[in-house]
Amino acid sequence: MATQALTKGDLATLDVSRGELYADDSWRPLFAQLRAEIPIHYCPDSVFGPYWSVTRYDDIVAVEADPQTFSSSFEHGGIVLFDMQDTNVKLAMFIAMDDPEHGAQRKTVAPAFGPSEIAGHAVALRERTARLLDSLPVGETFDWVERVSIELTTSMIATLFDWPWDDRHRLPVWSDWTAKIDIGPDPVLNAERETHIFEMAAAFKQLFEERKAMPPKGDLLSIMAHSEVMADMDEQRFIGAIALLLVGGNDTTRNSMSGLVEQMNKFPDQWERLKADRSLISTAATETIRLQTPICHMRRTVVQDTELGGQKLKAGDKVALWYNSANRDEAVFPDGDLWDVGRSNSRRHLSFGYGIHRCLGARLAELQLQVLIEELLARDMTVEIAGEPERIPSCFTRGFHHLPVRIRKG
Ligand code: HEM
Repeated sequence: MATQALTKGDLATLDVSRGELYADDSWRPLFAQLRAEIPIHYCPDSVFGPYWSVTRYDDIVAVEADPQTFSSSFEHGGIVLFDMQDTNVKLAMFIAMDDPEHGAQRKTVAPAFGPSEIAGHAVALRERTARLLDSLPVGETFDWVERVSIELTTSMIATLFDWPWDDRHRLPVWSDWTAKIDIGPDPVLNAERETHIFEMAAAFKQLFEERKAMPPKGDLLSIMAHSEVMADMDEQRFIGAIALLLVGGNDTTRNSMSGLVEQMNKFPDQWERLKADRSLISTAATETIRLQTPICHMRRTVVQDTELGGQKLKAGDKVALWYNSANRDEAVFPDGDLWDVGRSNSRRHLSFGYGIHRCLGARLAELQLQVLIEELLARDMTVEIAGEPERIPSCFTRGFHHLPVRIRKG
């Protein structure tokens, strides 16, 4: 679709954080123009206040490689455009900390994401996925988000925490409220958000104390409860650690699973290609995560005056790293809007970030998506979009509230 380029004046005040751009999926040409004309762009006014946008691949890598200048710390406002330091939930999580505290906490939970731990989840994951796909109606319209994406990712997270199975449906509710950054400064919605977060913290705290009193085992709560670094966190750090592991693993993987359906519908030739050549499945999973970019941005705060791409950034400035844009940077990914299941450099995508904060759950996310693709192919299932998708109106979580689909065999 040809879209009119913005004038210089409109570009100068462009605000790519507006939720409607993501609700109606109209953000692509705006970022393409920014990459071409003002790759480091200053937005003077938004619901989140003024902020810089970094839109090219190499510039994002440069920022993430320099955490001394570009801080992630919650004390400066954290990792999303919305400043949380002035609210009752600061989300003091290690993704929103600088070293050394970040490194110490990351090291504590990292063993839960090691290769043998991930491999240990594979059999049960495949069984759950197979059972779920076998239970889906063929030829009837249903919501893929509710029935598949949420169900599978919630089950995985419940397993990681060894969370009471029958109570697992509370997890995505808390996760969704925690990730709602676009409510910005709205006091009523923020109060509601805080109510959910404190309820989540209380429920997890009870389980955490129980695990502490039990001999150590491999789940995330037990690992934290028996560690030197995370056993006695203050309230904000406890909430932060839980929120990170819950949101980190939930909304992101969920929206990749929904993104997979969108891609197979937009690019049926690539789905046929996968059917004919199963050796492409791993690349297809990676390519889905590149194209979906479930986290649109991470934010950093400048802590010492610096220069980036010829622009002068001052201490205190907010910087949004737009992964959705970098993943389509023409210099790295030719025809970046295409789902190319044989793309040779798909793995270079920035959906998992880069540097010291690169996603700890990346391998687990890829595995979940790979297994889903494998099991769909094994059943010769094609998932057809059967109605208008409802997209999340957010510049942070990129994905779907609802995605009506119909399954066809063959
Ligand atoms: C497709 C799925 C996923 C995407 C797109 C994703 C994306 C991200 C991004 C963008 C970051 C920040 C990177 C940076 O600042 O450079 C991150 C960090 C993180 N992710 Fe993921 N993630 C996914 C799945 C998961 C899963 C399944 C888990 C585990 C339950 C997880 C846990 C984490 C943790 C703990 C961090 C913090 C790492 C640190 O600060 O050192 N993520 N993820």
